[in-house]
Amino acid sequence: MAVGTVLVTGGTGYIGSFTALTLLEHGYDVVIVDNLYNSSRVAVDRIELICGKRPLFYEADVTDEAALDAVFAKNPAIDSVIHFAALKAVGESGEIPLEYYRVNVGGSIALLRSMTKHNVTNIVFSSSATVYGDATRFPNMIPIPETCPLGPTNTYGRTKVMIETVITDHIEAQRNNNKKAGQPYEQWNAALLRYFNPCGAHPSGIMGEDPQGVPYNLLPLLGKVATGERDKLLVFGTDYASKDGTAIRDYIHVCDLAAGHLSALSYLRDKKPGVRAWNLGSGRGSTVLEIIQAFSKVVGRDLPYEVAERRQGDVLDLTAHPALANEELGWKTQLTMEDACKDLWRWVENNPKGYRQDPPAELLEALKAKRAE
Ligand SMILES: NC(=O)c1ccc[n+]([C@@H]2O[C@H](COP(=O)([O-])OP(=O)(O)OC[C@H]3O[C@@H](n4cnc5c(N)ncnc54)[C@H](O)[C@@H]3O)[C@@H](O)[C@H]2O)c1
Repeated sequence: MAVGTVLVTGGTGYIGSFTALTLLEHGYDVVIVDNLYNSSRVAVDRIELICGKRPLFYEADVTDEAALDAVFAKNPAIDSVIHFAALKAVGESGEIPLEYYRVNVGGSIALLRSMTKHNVTNIVFSSSATVYGDATRFPNMIPIPETCPLGPTNTYGRTKVMIETVITDHIEAQRNNNKKAGQPYEQWNAALLRYFNPCGAHPSGIMGEDPQGVPYNLLPLLGKVATGERDKLLVFGTDYASKDGTAIRDYIHVCDLAAGHLSALSYLRDKKPGVRAWNLGSGRGSTVLEIIQAFSKVVGRDLPYEVAERRQGDVLDLTAHPALANEELGWKTQLTMEDACKDLWRWVENNPKGYRQDPPAELLEALKAKRAE
């Protein structure tokens, strides 16, 4: 008997697929909804290869409320949702803002409406550290605690703040309305998880980030420089007030991040807290040059880079104060940025075509041997 059944939107994407895997490994049943806009259904096969269990998969759009209704109707055991499905390119969000608001905010509203019709009352939401914007505008806000005032500096970040607000208003209204009507209300709960910089891949080397277009995150781009698919990395801004002039981020291994979702979901189910926001980060900041150095070390040679102008909307330092998640959720990062570099390189080196190729036989053999242990 499953611990619970979770609908994972965006579950064939990078973080969603790792979270679906972790849920299955911990006794949950998983139903994925994804429109494959930025992912491949091969992720479902890889999840099964690693853990021996297969999530149910529906190709559907989160903005399509009727399609979501049909998924909930067919799977009445679903009791919680982890909501990843979104557009996430910061630069693009400034070019096509209506599309970002339609998919990210509109999709979240359709999901909440459908959940409510089907009495599904727990939601864990993928928010982002970008909701804080430039935390150096306040004294003593680095590392960033959840109490730091929000102030996103780009459209993508503004969609995340809006969704956090919509979820908060809806969950609070459900609790208040039920309370007034003398009905149980504590079942309505939400976790707003503000991720810092997710990175890395599965240690087996057969599952990792496989975006459909050009990646824009630092480590996947470095991966492409290492395989020769790109000539060099562009470093945006070397005049920040950091030790080497480049921007500081808090890199969190995707396996740790996935585990954080499980901890948050358990907290909602056990403690029924209403709406809570938690930072998911390591608390350790690394500059862009430090990441280039760490990844170059794993690859075994210096990777070329070129300095470019700062990007609009970028901020100096996004490093998490993770104490609240550490204490309340009993969750803490176990892996380092260096571990993430190693795992990423194992994935990229062995699967230069991502999910458009079969994984190397020796990695599959090693996985089989590990599973037989
Ligand atoms: N990767 C990061 O750096 C990062 C940081 C903070 C927050 N997040 C958030 O985490 C979530 C997952 O990010 P990711 O890095 O795994 O990205 P991703 O693009 O790999 O995953 C998102 C998934 O959502 C799907 N999707 C997009 N639009 C959809 C729609 N209309 N209907 C159904 N599915 C749709 C995509 O196909 C993809 O599989 C996103 O909400 C993102 O904003 C990511």
